[in-house]
Amino acid sequence: MSVIRTENLSYVYGEGTPFRKVAVDSVDLEIGEGEFIGVIGHTGSGKSTLIQHFNGLLKPTSGSVYIDGEKLWEDKARLRAIRFKVGLVFQYPEYQLFEETCYKDIAFGPRNMGLSEEEIDKRVRETARLIGISDEMLEKSPFELSGGQKRRVAIAGVMAMEPKVLILDEPASGLDPKGRAKILGLIREYHKEKQNTVMLVSHSMEDVAKHCSKILVMNNAKVFCYDTPVNVFRRAQELESMGLAVPQVTRVFNRLRAMGCPVDDEVYTVGFGKELIMKALSAGRRAEP
Ligand SMILES: Nc1ncnc2c1ncn2[C@@H]1O[C@H](COP(=O)(O)OP(=O)(O)OP(=O)(O)O)[C@@H](O)[C@H]1O
Ligand SMILES: [Mg+2]
Repeated sequence: MSVIRTENLSYVYGEGTPFRKVAVDSVDLEIGEGEFIGVIGHTGSGKSTLIQHFNGLLKPTSGSVYIDGEKLWEDKARLRAIRFKVGLVFQYPEYQLFEETCYKDIAFGPRNMGLSEEEIDKRVRETARLIGISDEMLEKSPFELSGGQKRRVAIAGVMAMEPKVLILDEPASGLDPKGRAKILGLIREYHKEKQNTVMLVSHSMEDVAKHCSKILVMNNAKVFCYDTPVNVFRRAQELESMGLAVPQVTRVFNRLRAMGCPVDDEVYTVGFGKELIMKALSAGRRAEP
């Protein structure tokens, strides 16, 4: 069964005003359990608006959202419980840290769920370990940490609620390349360990290509496609016409294939591309008289 499903979902900002904007337009989606999904699309294509529907932060203007088969907004009393199933990490989540210690900040969500102190402690420590926050750091004020560490603590607060679906809106934005790699690596680890559904909104094709089992491409408030990376990147020209570049190395291999070279069509990372080229070259050398 799909963990998230939308039916003809639309959302309009500023209805009845001169600023009316259809931000999500007739979206039908089915997200399978355990999937790691990358969401891409140019600025303003509706990514953030779409994902805010998945934990009931926004109410559809029309259409419906189902979480675990249960229709959101059908019964207001169920909304809170359904919300705990879908954890949403906003852009720059560290701006929302406010407790005296990192421990308390990570514990905030689980405490809100009404868990026992023992369970809260277990979850805080387990999540801290997963994201590389030491016991010593847990006792520090979040404001003593570096930017990347603060981001990790903020993400841990949502992870510790153990949502069935973890959605992160541009979790690596504003960090340096090392910080980006660290955060994305940790999210991948989390997915590997928990096998929960993860949705990662990103501007970077490279990031999404490396980590995700499926890619959702938004364009002008609509779903352009939702498919495996290989099927999405086959449509390189269409993606480029909407201002989205496929990873450079994928472009090189698409071009080689178009020229008649029998090369793999699943090359998204420079490392893998290099490996294939080295293999092809050494096979060519051996074949020489
Ligand atoms: N609070 C709001 N009020 C009015 N219009 C909004 C609001 N938030 C977003 N929009 C508009 O809705 C459309 C979709 O915005 P959204 O933030 O969902 O896009 P996005 O794909 O997340 O963009 P980005 O990549 O810049 O984060 C845009 O045209 C945007 O200007
Ligand atoms: Mg956004």
